[in-house]
Amino acid sequence: MVATIIDGIKIAAEIRAEAKVEVDALKAQGIEPCLAVIFVGESPASKVYVDSKVRACEEVGIKSVKKTANTDIKQEALLALVDQFNDDENVHGILVQLPLPHHIDKNAIIERIDPAKDVDGFHPVNAGKLMIGLDCLAPCTPAGIPELITRSGYSTEHKKVVIIGRSNIVGKPLMNILVQKGPKANCTVTCCHSGTEHLEKYTREADILIAAIGVPEFVTQGMVKEGSVVIDVGINRVDDLEHSRAYRLVGDVAYDEVKEIAGAITPVPGGVGPMTVAMLMKNTVKAARMINR
Ligand code: GUN
Repeated sequence: MVATIIDGIKIAAEIRAEAKVEVDALKAQGIEPCLAVIFVGESPASKVYVDSKVRACEEVGIKSVKKTANTDIKQEALLALVDQFNDDENVHGILVQLPLPHHIDKNAIIERIDPAKDVDGFHPVNAGKLMIGLDCLAPCTPAGIPELITRSGYSTEHKKVVIIGRSNIVGKPLMNILVQKGPKANCTVTCCHSGTEHLEKYTREADILIAAIGVPEFVTQGMVKEGSVVIDVGINRVDDLEHSRAYRLVGDVAYDEVKEIAGAITPVPGGVGPMTVAMLMKNTVKAARMINR
């Protein structure tokens, strides 16, 4: 069996098109959705992500304001920048690209963002609402995963899901999304991590296996159940002198061997990555709608 390739580029384009329809409807009511993006430092990888978020805004008709700060920005100055966007009624979404330099307390910055404008869904108010099943702004990467699965024709209903990774950005919110009662969820969820013993005992049972650990090609064929849906959240740069950029991108899944046994699999790039940006567009529209309710 060779896996069906789940096309994140196509599904993300569908979602951006849906967001554009909603943006047009808001504009007809005199509301112009606006996303503020704060980028500290000069990490090339973060710059690629930030630029793709700004480009997506242009495509769907969301206004974007990008603020770039030097790596040595003081925490107080960054908090003041967040306050400025919190107070600006024309701004509906605020995103601070992570990671931040070590001298800045990431949680202090996240907690300063108005939860109503927290399009990353990282604020404790949104994390708490997600956990108890209230309507909220959910983190974009995990929110895209049930969309990828169900829009490719697979169900999540009653499925055994194993997530590898317990980050606040992916693993933990994803547990809370997939465990809820309701469409695109209703799964039995197990969250494994670096402290899990006999990991493959869990992963081999998974109908849906989601790798979000940040270790290149960590998930190998022997860890995967035949016919399962494998979602690869990893984006790792590995040295490759044969490549024009001297690196190539690989996921957390050993794609070539796992695709021989899985029922469906997301590629890297072109799987989960584009979905994050598409879901950010959805969240920005949702924030603009909620703020103007
Ligand atoms: N860094 C890696 N992923 C993300 C994300 O989803 N949002 C933000 N703000 N930073 C990130």
